[in-house]
Amino acid sequence: MTSPRSPITKAVIPAAGLGTRFLPATKATPKEMLPVVDRPAIQYVVEEATSAGLTDVLMVTGRNKRPLEDHFDRNYELEEVLRAKGDEGRLSRVLESSALATVHYVRQGDPKGLGHAVACAEPHVGRQPFAVLLGDDLIDPRDPLLTRMTEVREQHGGSVVALLEVDPSQIHLYGCAGVEPTGVDAVVRVTGLVEKPERADAPSNYAVIGRYVLDPAVFDVLRETEPGRGGEIQLTDALQTLAGDPSRGGPVHGVVFRGRRYDTGDRADYLRSIVRLACEREDLGPDFRDWLMKYVNGEMREIE
Ligand code: UTP
Repeated sequence: MTSPRSPITKAVIPAAGLGTRFLPATKATPKEMLPVVDRPAIQYVVEEATSAGLTDVLMVTGRNKRPLEDHFDRNYELEEVLRAKGDEGRLSRVLESSALATVHYVRQGDPKGLGHAVACAEPHVGRQPFAVLLGDDLIDPRDPLLTRMTEVREQHGGSVVALLEVDPSQIHLYGCAGVEPTGVDAVVRVTGLVEKPERADAPSNYAVIGRYVLDPAVFDVLRETEPGRGGEIQLTDALQTLAGDPSRGGPVHGVVFRGRRYDTGDRADYLRSIVRLACEREDLGPDFRDWLMKYVNGEMREIE
């Protein structure tokens, strides 16, 4: 286990999944590039990483990686056109994404699972603790989670997962954690993890969501992790090994998240995220809320 105090500067963002729940939109575009209001979902995730002090970002990409790379790169032609028009507002929005962080890329040849995607980050990360942010999981910036997870790692060492209490009927959609209390509110010790269990087999209703702070020992475990559920190499299985044998890389703790979070890889949650964030926007919100109220109340004429 590395020292709990080793600073965390690197963020890994796996974005190589097939996005089958969102076909056909994701046939030629990564789901992380789907717009949430006027920014692709992945930009919110990179902004979250940099807000938590993680300025070195490694994106694990798959097929169709071009749009992701282009989004975080400069687009001189577009910049010139906007500059010539004197459109400073739009120009600054175009520049925003390329100035956020140093973004590196590694290719996951075959999408063999989230654990495999994380393993692809090893040459870049080395023997340092690091954060993993799933590119399709959006955490509201007003509810910071990563900073709290980093503090828990500093206190206990090892690895830290983010947990969400879900209705027991939903637990089969997530990795699920068996936990015991630590005496600190919203911080638990993880005793075991199981990927997408049947409701009857779930050790709790704590679902693992897409933020992790990991000890580099996870790379050693991932190397020997066999394909699990769905034939994929599961990060949950590697964390289960670490939780069961803390001598390998320290304990696993969970931070219980009670804030706002959207799974933008799920169609219904994606729609909720857009409606909510659009309603709260200063520029779009007032008109959009007004329209939405009328729509919900059935006060609209066909053409409105
Ligand atoms: P999901 O479980 O959401 O899978 O991946 P998916 O393939 O992306 O989407 P669906 O279920 O088919 O619609 C969780 C996260 O892990 C990444 C995905 O990009 C997503 O951020 N991932 C998954 C990889 O990077 N590589 C993989 O092999 C699998």
